[in-house]
Amino acid sequence: MKAVVIGGGTMGAGIAHLLLANEHQVWLVEADAERANAGFLGVKASLHRAEAKGKLKDRDADELLANLTVAEPPADAELVIEAVPENVPLKQKVLGFAAEKCPDAILASNTSSLSISEIAAGLPGERVLGMHFFNPVPVQQLVELVHHEGVDPANVAKARTWAEEMGKTVIEVRDSPGFATSRLGVAVGMEAIRMLEEGVASAADIDTGMKLGYRWPMGPLELTDLVGLDVRLAIAEHLAAELGPRFDPPQLLRDKVAQGELGKKTGQGFFSW
Ligand SMILES: NC(=O)c1ccc[n+]([C@@H]2O[C@H](COP(=O)([O-])OP(=O)(O)OC[C@H]3O[C@@H](n4cnc5c(N)ncnc54)[C@H](O)[C@@H]3O)[C@@H](O)[C@H]2O)c1
Repeated sequence: MKAVVIGGGTMGAGIAHLLLANEHQVWLVEADAERANAGFLGVKASLHRAEAKGKLKDRDADELLANLTVAEPPADAELVIEAVPENVPLKQKVLGFAAEKCPDAILASNTSSLSISEIAAGLPGERVLGMHFFNPVPVQQLVELVHHEGVDPANVAKARTWAEEMGKTVIEVRDSPGFATSRLGVAVGMEAIRMLEEGVASAADIDTGMKLGYRWPMGPLELTDLVGLDVRLAIAEHLAAELGPRFDPPQLLRDKVAQGELGKKTGQGFFSW
């Protein structure tokens, strides 16, 4: 299949890696030549890491990389996936460009929180859907397939088949704030923070409770540290605005973000790293 990835940052490079490792041809589109080169090097590094770990089966990283082109998308592309920053007008702009260049392609957004219906407005909506990958893309099993009212169900079925053929497990979600994963993940994370705030248990004990009692691979507070407290606060604020006060972020989360305790990336969150 000929696929186009728009945006070669963390997620775009991972998506390109996944497509290449599954024998697809990939066109990478970036904002300018310098960032295109950085995106190309990101994909290359990712494929070489996988090769070193024996994850490419019998394939050679450089051989797969030969199927990556940094150029304008071809007219006969079947799938376009955008992974540009989280901003509706920007996503509309890049998908609008792809819609014209690739008249038959499915136009997928990797947004983790924006409304697919909103992104689809002004675009050929029957071709637009959400394909929400998780970081790191080559490793994480899940793809959340998000559909809005105007999408052609045949396109949802095609996107599901491609994702499954690349070894992913698909869940289908109606376009709604936070989709399925962020909404539930943030709800549990916020409640864990409120419990800490109320002195119900220590951070370590709250996490151990969920790991040993419910077989979670990681506790909700450790996960918040990994995602970034600032990132989670922004998602909670978005969900509170869309779904109501049950998603209002706890004061403790606001305080920690204000103090610069953003989790693993700053060395301090609910735990010290
Ligand atoms: N990082 C994650 O864990 C994660 C997980 C799931 C979904 N997402 C979503 O994926 C998307 C991308 O996130 P990311 O973390 O990869 O961001 P990132 O900042 O690492 O990458 C974004 C890339 O888009 C490029 N870009 C900007 N404007 C462009 C344009 N006009 N044309 C082409 N390229 C352009 C940038 O140069 C950059 O390389 C966001 O919508 C985000 O919400 C992120």
